[in-house]
Amino acid sequence: MSAGHTFFSVTGLTKDFGGIRAVDDLCFSVEKGSITGIIGPNGAGKTTVFNLVTGVYRPTSGAIHLMGEPIGGLRPDAIVRKGIARTFQNIRLFNRQSCLENVMTPLLQRERHSFVGSVLRTPGARRRQRDLADRGRSLLASLGLEPFASQQANTLPYGLQRKLEIVRALATGPELLLLDEPAAGMNPEETKRLAELIAEIRERFDVTILLIEHHMDLVMNICEPIVVMNFGALLACGTPDEVRSNPDVIAAYLGKGKKSHDASAQG
Ligand SMILES: Nc1ncnc2c1ncn2[C@@H]1O[C@H](COP(=O)(O)OP(=O)(O)OP(=O)(O)O)[C@@H](O)[C@H]1O
Ligand SMILES: [Mg+2]
Repeated sequence: MSAGHTFFSVTGLTKDFGGIRAVDDLCFSVEKGSITGIIGPNGAGKTTVFNLVTGVYRPTSGAIHLMGEPIGGLRPDAIVRKGIARTFQNIRLFNRQSCLENVMTPLLQRERHSFVGSVLRTPGARRRQRDLADRGRSLLASLGLEPFASQQANTLPYGLQRKLEIVRALATGPELLLLDEPAAGMNPEETKRLAELIAEIRERFDVTILLIEHHMDLVMNICEPIVVMNFGALLACGTPDEVRSNPDVIAAYLGKGKKSHDASAQG
């Protein structure tokens, strides 16, 4: 990354689905090494932002930049190669495959050149296969999942499936990791441990993290800054304290919806 470039940014990002403007002229940036949070009421457009950033949808208008390079509108596989990986709000694992296989697939995709060899089962390809399995196991181990390496993914408890999704995303070697509600369905104790784990992942894998969450305790503890969305647009952005005390944010979370400019809506 050359000096002066923002690590990651969206500018004027807009996405229409028919008559619905799911993302509305959104601008924010992410600093390298940060854990940036995205919060907002249901339907605010948070997941759509991830879908635009990862190439699931093309923006209606606006730009997305990673390390100075425009990446808006690229295909999902190209986005992965640029260094962005994600997890999904609704877990998407290869359910019938083992944990190890779930992690080896993205590792293999990184080394596409070896594909022909692996089909032909050359000695070199077998060696690479063993090497991939070793790397897969050590990735699993780094998040405490090594004991489950040969277990079928959908037989894991829910919390471990969420972890496995994170390992799988990390296997693509990302610069920027997008986590869509990683604590969904977790109890307070699990959420607390996940918060610690996310902070650890940032250090150990040297990744920048952009994280959508409804668990405010998790967001307020590990995210800075926090981007607040409402009706597809940017409502606020700042430190946890700034966001917590912002009257527009409070109003949005009390269900009053639209930006309030009068004191009566600030309760
Ligand atoms: N593929 C789609 N087709 C049509 N409308 C869509 C599509 N995807 C999202 N939307 C609409 O866009 C808006 C934003 O949805 P999105 O899933 O991004 O919200 P969200 O902030 O992630 O909500 P939640 O917190 O409930 O996950 C919603 O009105 C949703 O119905
Ligand atoms: Mg969502």
